[in-house]
Amino acid sequence: MNTPPDTIEHRFNAVVRGRTEVSLRITVLGTGYLGATHAACMAELGFEVIGMDVDAAKVDALSEGRIPFFEPDLEPLLRKHVDSGRLRFTTSYDEVADFGDVHFVCVGTPQRKGEFAADMVHVDSVIDGLAPKLTRECLIVGKSTVPVGSAARLADKIAAASPAADVVELAWNPEFLREGHAVDDTLKPDRLVIGVRSAAAEATLRQVYAEPIAAGTPFLVADFATAELVKVAANAFLATKISFINAMAEVCEQAGADVTMLADALGHDARIGRKFLNAGIGFGGGCLPKDIRAFMARAGELGADQALTFLREVDAINMRSRTRAVEVARASCDGSFIGKRIAVLGAAFKPNSDDIRDSPALNIAGQIQLQGGQVTVYDPKAADNARKLFPTLDYSSSVTEACQGAHLVLHLTEWQEFRDLDPAVLGTVVANRRIIDGRNSLDVRRWKDAGWTYRGLGR
Ligand code: UGA
Repeated sequence: MNTPPDTIEHRFNAVVRGRTEVSLRITVLGTGYLGATHAACMAELGFEVIGMDVDAAKVDALSEGRIPFFEPDLEPLLRKHVDSGRLRFTTSYDEVADFGDVHFVCVGTPQRKGEFAADMVHVDSVIDGLAPKLTRECLIVGKSTVPVGSAARLADKIAAASPAADVVELAWNPEFLREGHAVDDTLKPDRLVIGVRSAAAEATLRQVYAEPIAAGTPFLVADFATAELVKVAANAFLATKISFINAMAEVCEQAGADVTMLADALGHDARIGRKFLNAGIGFGGGCLPKDIRAFMARAGELGADQALTFLREVDAINMRSRTRAVEVARASCDGSFIGKRIAVLGAAFKPNSDDIRDSPALNIAGQIQLQGGQVTVYDPKAADNARKLFPTLDYSSSVTEACQGAHLVLHLTEWQEFRDLDPAVLGTVVANRRIIDGRNSLDVRRWKDAGWTYRGLGR
């Protein structure tokens, strides 16, 4: 056994020589769903990891192997590595600065209140907290979704603030994981993109990602600005694809066509592809809506606002999808929600998540309630979060309870549990066998055969 070298210089050299017995020590700053997942996955890849967060309650929960949100497969992985001692958590910048060869910045960049732009306060505060404590060679790696130009600005900030500035470097490595698939997307990403300014930084990140690279994951090395842009451009493209099919849904409704069949037919063209062409109540969550707005804001600052004006339309189509669903629902309640019981199946912005940020389902539930409907919501995982945000809605602990005496059922988040429902059995508890499928994902034939009036969106 070789004695592990104790300086980063040795570690970098070892990486360049391809020696695998040397393991970089990793820290993850910010332990939300991105950071907690990244920390557990880095431990799974064999590294010693410290996760750092300013929220002591979060650190306590994670230290006991508990995650304060729902993400399939994450908790067992976290517990495995907390138990093995390879993964621990702290609130101390001193501890991570002393420990880490590679520091991943995983804090959120929410939409600024009253503006389109991203709020960089958390990213800046991590850099302000960490940089002055760095007294030895290391690589800081930004994973947060940031306005293009941020990495260059932060590199200057680090250079000015760190006592070891000449041996501290910054890289940018955007994250493409999807909630509900976070562990798999981190361990087996479809591509890795890094923005670097030196061969040493590239070599270190090749070491970090040696396993997925060996498994064939494309590894793209870019400059800071390109790496930052890949992320927002990818989310802008995905949002555009969803809004495109929702615009087609509007046309289909007027023309008497079926948007689901249209999407299937378009999707067979390999240049188009079927994924992200599911029409319905549109996109929500903590990423797509705020990322397209932040992208527009940044393009404006750069003098390229015209290039992205189409994203305003993407945003508008998306918000209209929610309003259209409410209108369809009202029409099937004979023009008024007053005195009507509406069962809403789904509160999360997508299935396999308890995230309700900008959830189309909750937005629709809220609009219907404001128009006089008596709304009862059921979601397998997101009810607690939903209750905090929309305390005036009623919540049930089962589909059957939510649908009791309902004049209309709305299917708004496509959990497997809803697809597995027996429409004949559910038909015995509702007042009217009427369902609107806001995700166009139920088996139409089964619901119709059980005597339900089924209405999809755009068909
Ligand atoms: C999105 C991206 O897909 C990830 O690649 C990215 O890393 C992440 O944002 C991020 O920036 O962190 P996520 O927000 O987890 O991931 O959710 P998506 O799976 O993209 O779904 C977003 C929304 O679009 C959901 O509300 C979903 O219901 C909706 N959607 C999706 C549709 O309405 N139609 C579709 O065909 C697909």
